[in-house]
Amino acid sequence: MTFLGIDLGTSEVKVILTEQDSTIIASGAVRLRVDTPHPHWSEQSPQAWWHATVDAIAEVRAKAPVPFKALRGIGLSGQMHGATLLDKGGQVLRPAILWNDTRSYAECVELETLVPESGTITGNLAMPGFTAPKLLWLAKYEPAVFRAIHKVLLPKDYVAWRLSGEFVSEMSDASGTLWLDVARRDWSDRMLEATGLSRDHMPRLVEGSDAASSLRDDLRREWGIDAAVTLCGGAGDNAASAVGIGVAGAGDAFLSLGTSGVLFAGTDRFAPNPAQAVHAFCHCLPGQWHQMSVILSAASSLSWLAATLKVDVASLVEAAERVGGLPESAASNAPAESVSQAVATAPIFLPYLSGERTPHNDANAKGVFYGLTGSHDASHLAYSVMEGVAFAMADGYAALQGAGTTLSHASILGGGSRSAFWAQLCADATGISMRRHEGSEVGAALGAARLARLAVTHEAPSDVCVAPRVIETRDAGTMRSDILSGRLERYRRLYRALSAEFAMPA
Ligand code: XUL
Repeated sequence: MTFLGIDLGTSEVKVILTEQDSTIIASGAVRLRVDTPHPHWSEQSPQAWWHATVDAIAEVRAKAPVPFKALRGIGLSGQMHGATLLDKGGQVLRPAILWNDTRSYAECVELETLVPESGTITGNLAMPGFTAPKLLWLAKYEPAVFRAIHKVLLPKDYVAWRLSGEFVSEMSDASGTLWLDVARRDWSDRMLEATGLSRDHMPRLVEGSDAASSLRDDLRREWGIDAAVTLCGGAGDNAASAVGIGVAGAGDAFLSLGTSGVLFAGTDRFAPNPAQAVHAFCHCLPGQWHQMSVILSAASSLSWLAATLKVDVASLVEAAERVGGLPESAASNAPAESVSQAVATAPIFLPYLSGERTPHNDANAKGVFYGLTGSHDASHLAYSVMEGVAFAMADGYAALQGAGTTLSHASILGGGSRSAFWAQLCADATGISMRRHEGSEVGAALGAARLARLAVTHEAPSDVCVAPRVIETRDAGTMRSDILSGRLERYRRLYRALSAEFAMPA
C-alpha cells in the first residue's frame, strides 16, 4: 500500500507519494499566490488551494501511476491559523485570512478583556495571527459575512473537506485557533461564545494520527483506486514537520527557516508561557504537546532582500558567507581578523517585516537596518539579514527557556536550512547544536504521509516517526561567539529603543 502526504504551504502546495515504509516514490508541487489588498492584510483563495492540490496530485499520479492505485491513506498538513469561512451551501464566503495577517490586533485586546482567563484555557496570548481575533474583526467590519458563517475551517481542513465531504480537524492545528482548551484537547465553549460562535460552527476533532474520514467515491473512481482510502486527522505544518523529522516527544526539537521561523520543542505535558508569546499547543500525536516560538519573517526576509536588490537568494547567501566567514568554505577565504572586523561593523537587522509574535507580540514592529555606513554593500546587508533572523530565533529560545525548556540540539528545516552558514549562525546565536538532515525540505508532507500510515496500520508512533539521516551537525560557539553575543545584546536594545516609535501611526 502507498500513502499520500499533502502540505498546503503559503507559497506552494507540495504532494508526496510514499511506500508503506515512508520511502518517497514521487512528488509534485504547485505555487500559490498571496494577496495583500491592504497593509497588514494577507489573504488567499481557498478555491485556489483546492485547484493547486488537485494539480499537484495529478503530477504525482502521472509520475507514479501504478503505486498511486495502491493508495490507502492520505494525510494533510498545512499553514496554520487561516480563517476559511463557508456558508450553509458550502460556498466560500470571502478569501481566507492568513496566519501572517495582523489586521486584528485591537480585537486581541478585546478578546482578552472578554475572557481574562483565555491564556489559561488556550495556553497562548491572543495574537492577530490566530483565528479567533480574525472572527471578531469580521463581526465588526464584515457583519453580513459573519452572519452567513456555517463553518470555520483551517486551511488544510478545507482541502480535506473537498476530498472527503466531512468537516474534521485535529488537535495540533485547532490549538492555533484560540478556541481549543489545549490541556483538555477539546473545543472551549467559553472561547467560542466570546467570538459569537458555538461548537456547531466547528469541525469535529480527532487526533492527527487517527482515521478521520474517507476519500469521496467519485474521486477514488476517477483516480482508478479500487479500495477505500482513509484520511487521517493530519497536522498543522509545524507538528507535521516534527513527525517528518522525528521530533515526536519531550526533549526533541527543530528550528525551521521557512516563510516563518519556528523553534519547536516536544513536551509530554501542557507547558504554557503566554507572557512571552510562547505558543503551547497539542502535538498531532495522542498524549503529546509542544511549545513553539514563532517569528513571521525568516527565510522570507532574505527573499525580500533578494527581490529588492534584484539578485537571487543563492548569490546573497554566498555574499553573506564572505562577510561572516564559514571557516571551511571556499567562499570565505578571508583572514579571520578581517572577517571578525566585517561582522563587528556590519549593520544590525531587525527582521520584523510583518510585525512580530515571539517574544514581542507586536503587530506594529517593523524591519530595521541599523548602523549603515558608506562602506556597506549588498553582502553586508545579506549577512545582517541572516544574522538578524538567527537573533530572532535566539529570542525565541529565551522565551522557551522561560517556559522550562532547555535544548542541546535541534534539527534544522525549511528552505533556509539548505545553507550550512545559516545553520551555523543559528547555532552560534542560540547555543543549540543544529543537525541538518537528508530530505528536510519535504518534512511536513512526509510527516502528513506518516500520520496517514499510522491511521491505517496502527503501528507505534516511535517506530514510524524516526529522524532521516543527519548530513552534518553545526555546533554552537565556533564563530566568534563573543562578537555575536555583543551584537545580540544591541539587537535587543534596538527593539526596546524603537518599540514606542513602531506604535506611532504611519
Ligand atoms: C505557526 C505559524 C506559521 C504558519 C506557517 O504558528 O503561524 O508557522 O503555520 O505556515
